[in-house]
Amino acid sequence: MADTKKSQHGEWSSRFAFILAATGSAVGLGNIWKFPYITGENGGGAFVIVYLLCVLLIGIPIMMAETLLGRRSRQNPISTMITLSDEAGADKNWHYLGWMGVTAGFLILSYYSVIAGWASAYVVKAFSGSFLGADASSIKVLFDDFVGSPIKLLFWHTLFMLATMLIVVRGVNTGLEKAVRFLMPSLFVLLMLMVAYAMTFDEYYDKGIKFLFTPDFSKITADGVLTAMGHAFFTLSLGMGAIMVYGSYLPKDVSIAKTVYWIAGTDTVVALLAGIAIFPIVFANGLEPAAGPGLIFQTLPIAFGNMTGGWLFGILFFVMLVFAALSSSISLIEPAVAWLIENKNMSREQACIWSGSVTWLMGFGVVFSFNIWSELKIFDRTIFQLLDYLTANLMLPIGGFCIAVFAGWIMKQQHTEQELNMPNPLGYQIWKILISYVSPAAVFLVFLHVVGVL
Ligand code: PHE
Repeated sequence: MADTKKSQHGEWSSRFAFILAATGSAVGLGNIWKFPYITGENGGGAFVIVYLLCVLLIGIPIMMAETLLGRRSRQNPISTMITLSDEAGADKNWHYLGWMGVTAGFLILSYYSVIAGWASAYVVKAFSGSFLGADASSIKVLFDDFVGSPIKLLFWHTLFMLATMLIVVRGVNTGLEKAVRFLMPSLFVLLMLMVAYAMTFDEYYDKGIKFLFTPDFSKITADGVLTAMGHAFFTLSLGMGAIMVYGSYLPKDVSIAKTVYWIAGTDTVVALLAGIAIFPIVFANGLEPAAGPGLIFQTLPIAFGNMTGGWLFGILFFVMLVFAALSSSISLIEPAVAWLIENKNMSREQACIWSGSVTWLMGFGVVFSFNIWSELKIFDRTIFQLLDYLTANLMLPIGGFCIAVFAGWIMKQQHTEQELNMPNPLGYQIWKILISYVSPAAVFLVFLHVVGVL
């Protein structure tokens, strides 16, 4: 069945196009905004090691599984789970997994878009010269003023959601390919430039590197381990169907394994570069590594304000960040849009208007959680923190766990083997062990650790 089937949304023009799109989905605010601040909040080195281990042992095998599931069924995540559980003679309830993914995508996008709005506003701030000659305290005032204004945040959130929906309306595999092709190398060059700038801080550079790469396991808590694992899912766009839906547009003859190594490798390098660029600035200016979600907005502008060519680099950097966020945000909503089109008979336009409006409205709560509702705590967290915890730390790992169990235990070995089509049988064996035992057990153990059983 699966061999002849094509997705009704079209296909990527090549393996390279899929790599670009999936890398575009993976590389985003998670790498540049979130990784540095959660690393700062969780004490540095030990957290980074746990995160890297999770990428290797959980992230990569699950990314291969998600891609193969999508490509085999060539439908949205919900229908994929129905078709493939049918094929394997398994319970229909597996489709709830698709539902959880679509829901997680909505929830993530509702705060992702707000933060991407911050990045968009910073393009204008960079352009108008707000950072020039600035020091840590004036940059902090600038940030606090901005985040304190619900109107400004709403404006930028709205603009970013509109941009996202405009791309999704056209279909992810047309305009997107071109944008990402140019974006990724540019982002990379700019990050290298920031790292070069960080190196000029000599002893603070060393301090930053030490903070990132010398593990002190006494600094990491059970919740920190969960955050590191959750982030491995978040940064690789796993556990909610984004990669599955992109996999469903992937041509048959493409090697999934090689493609996945490349995507996961690039994603990890970008995150580490962001960390290497940011922490020297944090230490050189006496800032707090645990400053929270504002960390990059309070550090990088200092660099742009004081380095040669900083005006231009500042603009370019935030423009890149917005593009990186866009290529991720479209993948957060595509599973829902694909489902509405395939199952609710909607046109792409209608599907976009529905899903876009819902996410946009949910974003209001997130916006207010940074100002007028900042005192409102649910389970000890603001709305933003709650959404982040619920999705990244719970829904994505649970989704990933179920995907691993499905690919490792429910699907017929012959089918996974055929989809992965690895030239070396040993490669398949290793994947099979990782996906059936190592990845699900690791997720399970981290959860046990958090609830205090371990
Ligand atoms: N991976 C994206 C990032 O790091 C976020 C994302 C999560 C995108 C889940 C799609 C699905 O910014």
